[in-house]
Amino acid sequence: MISTDFAPNESWDDALLSLKLLFQPWKWKSGNEVEKLKKTLSSIFQLPSSNFHLFLSGRSALYYLLKSFNLSPGSEVLIQAFTCEAVVLPILANDLKPIYLDIESEAYSMDFNSLTRKLAGPSKPEGRSGVNRKTNLTKVLILQHTFGLTPKDRDQILKLAKDRGLIVIEDLAHGFNPSIFKSSNIQHLTSNFYLLSFGRSKMLSSVFGGAIISSNRVISKLANQLTYPPYWFIFRCLLYKPLTMLIKSTYDFYVGKVFHKILNEFGLLIPEITAKEKSGDYDKLFNKAYPNALSMLLLHQLKKFDLVKEQRAKICNYYDRVILRAKPEGSLANARISNKLRDSSSAVHRTQNDSNILIRYPLLVDNRDEILTKARKQNIFLGVWYDQVVAPKDLDTSRVGYIPGSCPKAEEICQKIINLATNISINEAERVLNTLADVK
Ligand SMILES: Cc1ncc(COP(=O)(O)O)c(C=O)c1O
Repeated sequence: MISTDFAPNESWDDALLSLKLLFQPWKWKSGNEVEKLKKTLSSIFQLPSSNFHLFLSGRSALYYLLKSFNLSPGSEVLIQAFTCEAVVLPILANDLKPIYLDIESEAYSMDFNSLTRKLAGPSKPEGRSGVNRKTNLTKVLILQHTFGLTPKDRDQILKLAKDRGLIVIEDLAHGFNPSIFKSSNIQHLTSNFYLLSFGRSKMLSSVFGGAIISSNRVISKLANQLTYPPYWFIFRCLLYKPLTMLIKSTYDFYVGKVFHKILNEFGLLIPEITAKEKSGDYDKLFNKAYPNALSMLLLHQLKKFDLVKEQRAKICNYYDRVILRAKPEGSLANARISNKLRDSSSAVHRTQNDSNILIRYPLLVDNRDEILTKARKQNIFLGVWYDQVVAPKDLDTSRVGYIPGSCPKAEEICQKIINLATNISINEAERVLNTLADVK
């Protein structure tokens, strides 16, 4: 089984640690590990540990961050279309209004022109369209680093947002990338905020988890008031790693497939998104403190993070070499795949960006359904972040205030995108590309 979505960060050492923790419930809720984690993050990011505020998930981190701004109801939050409901629901739950801006197709991030149009337009208080109007209700801008790619227009967007007095939240949920803090463009931590996620499908996984990086004291106060999630919740988080490893390692022999079905049936595999969220409502289940046991899981992942990053970069570079044919003189096998991709009807498109440690490798293809079906038959599960302007697909976008047609580029990309796994071996990556190339 090769999967972009299913437990991409877990390996047997993670599963073993989780198993041990299952028998040590006294370590589950409080303990010293949360402080240890803050210190580790502080040394990685070279920022004071008091600037790290941990929550049970990225979405609850964002919920409390928005709450800490104490904005009046109806205040507008600028976000890009081509995002996850985990970003939008906390906005709505704070009685704020998401305003969707279109994206560019290089880094799948907010398009600067779309932002300038929004901010330069004539002022009118309310209207159906999200474009061409600047109201003094516009207060916050969330800049998403999709897939870990640095937004193409990042510098310009940050500058314009600063000039307009907007609060900026850089959403690093996909791109746990401490190097951006070395950039001269990083704004002082009192005016800008950074969102991290440690959910299962992100760069580092403690199954659930999130953080805000900021020197703001209000957010710190809110984080400190939270209670821990119940034992049942932590128990299911700890079960996740060993169970998913069992499924992954036996999937190709059919056993894993059956096992997966049974576990889902009994509700033992804790879902990433709850039923309430799928129907378009924020779920307060995640408004909890980050527990000690999850800190231990994350600290373990951080110990091997350099190796994982290296592997992801190696796989991204391999995909680039073959897909972009940057080095057609590569190995014979690569040249064969390159040629087949050129001849296939997939019309694979990917532009190069300077950051190349991606949680998923995005590609635009013309015949997505065919590719997904063909790959699935070979137990290769490709990702589709995002196949809807506000994912996942079963969400009714009218519930989150998206107006169809308002972000045409994002809508077009949603029809064509696939994501290749990056936390895999070269042999597996070769299998993935071969499958793509074989679709006529
Ligand atoms: C862009 C983006 N930001 C934030 C989040 C929130 O992360 P979490 O799953 O930890 O709530 C997600 C979740 O998928 C996301 O895709």
